[in-house]
Amino acid sequence: MAKFVGILTSGGDCPGLNAAIRGVGKAALGFYGMQMIGFRDGFRGFMENRTMELDGDMLSGILTQGGTILGTSRDKPHRMPVGGKVVDVTDVIVDNYHKHHLDVLVCLGGGGTQKNAYRLAQKGLNIITLPKTIDNDVTLTDVTFGFDTALGVATEAIDRLHSTAHSHHRIIVVEIMGNKVGWLALGAGIAGGADAILIPEIPYDIKKVAEALKKKICVVQPYAIVVVAEGAKTAGGDVTVKSREPGRVERLGGIGDIVAKELGSLTGYEARAVVLGHLLRGGSPNAMDRILGLGFGAAAINALKEGKDGVMVALNPPRIEYVPLEQAVSGIKTVPFDGDLVTAARALNISFGD
Ligand code: F6P
Repeated sequence: MAKFVGILTSGGDCPGLNAAIRGVGKAALGFYGMQMIGFRDGFRGFMENRTMELDGDMLSGILTQGGTILGTSRDKPHRMPVGGKVVDVTDVIVDNYHKHHLDVLVCLGGGGTQKNAYRLAQKGLNIITLPKTIDNDVTLTDVTFGFDTALGVATEAIDRLHSTAHSHHRIIVVEIMGNKVGWLALGAGIAGGADAILIPEIPYDIKKVAEALKKKICVVQPYAIVVVAEGAKTAGGDVTVKSREPGRVERLGGIGDIVAKELGSLTGYEARAVVLGHLLRGGSPNAMDRILGLGFGAAAINALKEGKDGVMVALNPPRIEYVPLEQAVSGIKTVPFDGDLVTAARALNISFGD
């Protein structure tokens, strides 16, 4: 009997989402002869029953496209802003799942989506999730798709900032997405030859960062590059919030400007800030994220064929595995304080300001 597969993308977009949609679709339609229906704009579109027919034609040509052809939103079933109020629409979503006779709902998303998916699984729906996010903070998977492309873009941006920082003898502070974790800032900072990297997991002292930079800035290197994750904070301090709204995820941003201003006055060097922001989320996925997206997508349908229920597809190199959703929502994957990457960075004389 044909199976009915629903699919949606939720949370912040990232490179590789369309590759994953294609992976799910090719396996479901082409290989197993199932039917697939897309829901627009994440759980909001699912609640409003806004669908997109996903046939072979729709899946053609999307592999290299950035973003998501389904659209996305950060809306959660249990806390959905509707008509000026924040309401629980879980029952509507459960009804829609049954109205479409779905055998599975495949949810592509980051940590928040895993939690929302788990709540729906607890209501008796069959949910399979794929972990995506440029932040790489989903636990129990080695990597999420979107991360590697963003890492490449961030590194190239830092590479380009070296020459202008050098020419003007400036400190350039690069603010990089990462509200809870510093994987992207850490990776790009190391790959881009940064002098200091400030991440949420290691609270910084700006005076220590300034001292480290003053020691490094010299005739040979008359400038410095500092990479700061948007969620970085001082010991005892708080993150820099741009906006807070009921039912919506807190927006961070602005730490780059603060750090640049403080470093300017503490070191006497001119300092500027650059915010990479959504540049990191846009554009075509690189080869790694295409492979991950396609592989995870196909694995979701293989999981369905094997009768798996309530699991997140995960990479545990060299294998793709299935993690029960209950475990996938057990925490987030943070940068270990004494992990190999941090230890290597310290040995490379990169300051964390601690
Ligand atoms: O997807 C996660 C993330 O990249 C965070 O690092 C960042 O804080 C957030 O997205 C920004 O999302 P939005 O585009 O909704 O403001």
